[in-house]
Amino acid sequence: MTADLLIINIKCIVQVRESISHFLAGKEMAELPTLDDGYLLITGERISGLGPMSALPQISSAVTVDAAGGWLFPSFVDSHTHLVYAASREEEFVMKIAGATYEEIASRGGGILNSAKKIQAMSEEELFERSLPRAHEIIGSGTGAVEIKSGYGLTVKDELKMLKVARRIGKETLLTVKTTFLGAHTVPRETNKDDYIRSILNEMIPAIAEQKLADYIDVFCEQGFFSPDETEIIAEAGKRYGMRPRLHANQLHRSGGVQAGVRVGAISVDHLENIGDEEIQLLKGTETMPTALPGAAFFLNLPFPPARKMIDSGLPLGIASDFNPGSAPTGNMPLMLSLACIKMKMTPQEAINASTINTAYTLGLLDTYGSIGIGKMASVFITKPMPSLAFMPYSFGSSLISKVILKGRVIQGSRDNKR
Ligand code: NIG
Ligand code: FE
Repeated sequence: MTADLLIINIKCIVQVRESISHFLAGKEMAELPTLDDGYLLITGERISGLGPMSALPQISSAVTVDAAGGWLFPSFVDSHTHLVYAASREEEFVMKIAGATYEEIASRGGGILNSAKKIQAMSEEELFERSLPRAHEIIGSGTGAVEIKSGYGLTVKDELKMLKVARRIGKETLLTVKTTFLGAHTVPRETNKDDYIRSILNEMIPAIAEQKLADYIDVFCEQGFFSPDETEIIAEAGKRYGMRPRLHANQLHRSGGVQAGVRVGAISVDHLENIGDEEIQLLKGTETMPTALPGAAFFLNLPFPPARKMIDSGLPLGIASDFNPGSAPTGNMPLMLSLACIKMKMTPQEAINASTINTAYTLGLLDTYGSIGIGKMASVFITKPMPSLAFMPYSFGSSLISKVILKGRVIQGSRDNKR
C-alpha cells in the first residue's frame, strides 16, 4: 500500500464514522464512536485508511508520525466567528467590569460601531495582516474549518473588504473557510435604518453576490438592532442570491429570532441565551441547527442556553466560538467544550459531537469534515497522552494538542501553515 503520511500508536481515534448524512439530535448526541490503539493513513489531502495497530499494513513511501499514545480527533468545525477585525476592545471589557452592559456600551458608540470605525480606516492589506494571526491561532487550538462573518464594515466598500479578507484567509492557510455577509449587524451612525436596509438589499447583496464573496447571510435579530420582520426581509433577499440564512438569535432578549430563523429556513440560529419552551418546540423537526456560543455567554455574564433541556427534548445542538473583539475574544474550541460541559451540563461526548458533526452540517461540510473515515479530509489533531476522553474538557485552559494536521500536511508553526 502507498500513502503519504502514516500516524501510528494512536491511543484512541475519536469520531470514527464511515458515512454520516445528517446531524445528530437528542440521544444520538451521546454516541461517540471510537477506535482504540489505531493507525491512520493519509494520501494527499484525504484519509486513505485506518484500523487497529494489530492490523497495520505494509506501507511504502510514507512519512511516519508517532502519536505516542495521544488521541486523534477530527478538526473542530467552528461555525460562527467574526475573526476578521481591526483591533481588540479591551477598554470596553474594563467598562463592563465597572458595571456597564453590552447594550449601554453599544449606545455610547462602543461595540460594533467602534469596530466599524477602525475597519473603515484600514486598508484591505492591513486588515488581512491583522486577521491572519487569529487564523493561525485557531489552527493551533484544533480548528480545521471555520465560518467568518463580515459586519464591521457597514458600507458597501467595507463589507466587501472584510469578505475579501475572509476569502483570502481560506486561500492562504490550510483552513477551509466559509463566509457570511452580516451587513445587518447594526445601523451605522447618522444613517436612518430604513435607508440602511435599502442599501443592504439594493447595493450590498447584489455586489457581494456578483463577486461570489458570501456563502451565507446573517442578521443580528435583537431589540435595538433588527426586528424579526426586518430579519426576514433581509434573509429572504440573501436567499434570492444563493446565500442561505444563519442568524444571531435570542442573545440579549427573547426577541423572536428563532421564529424568524425557522420561517426563513435558516441553517442555524446562534446564541440562544434567551429561549423558552416555545422556541424549543418550534425548532423540532426543522433543518435549523440551534447553536450555542458559550464563550460569548461567559464573557458577557449572560445565562447559558438551556442545552440540557434542548437535547433532552430531542433537539440537535451545535457549539461554536463566536470569536470577536466585543463578546468573545477567543476562538479556542477546547475551551468552548469545557464551558459546554461545566456551564451547560453537556457530556464530553455531546460537546464533541456538537463542535464537529453538527457544526459541519451547518456549513455543508458533513461529507468531508467533523468525522474520521476513508475519503474524508485529513484535517485532524493529536493530543498529548490523556487518560480518558473527559480529560480534555476537564483540563480547561490547558493546551493538550500536540500536533495538528490540516489537509494532509503536518503544521509545524504558523509560518509553515501556508499552502
Ligand atoms: O455575536 N451579537 C452580535 N455580534 C457579536 C458581537 C459583536 C461585537 O460586540 O463586536 C456576537 O456576540
Ligand atoms: Fe456572533
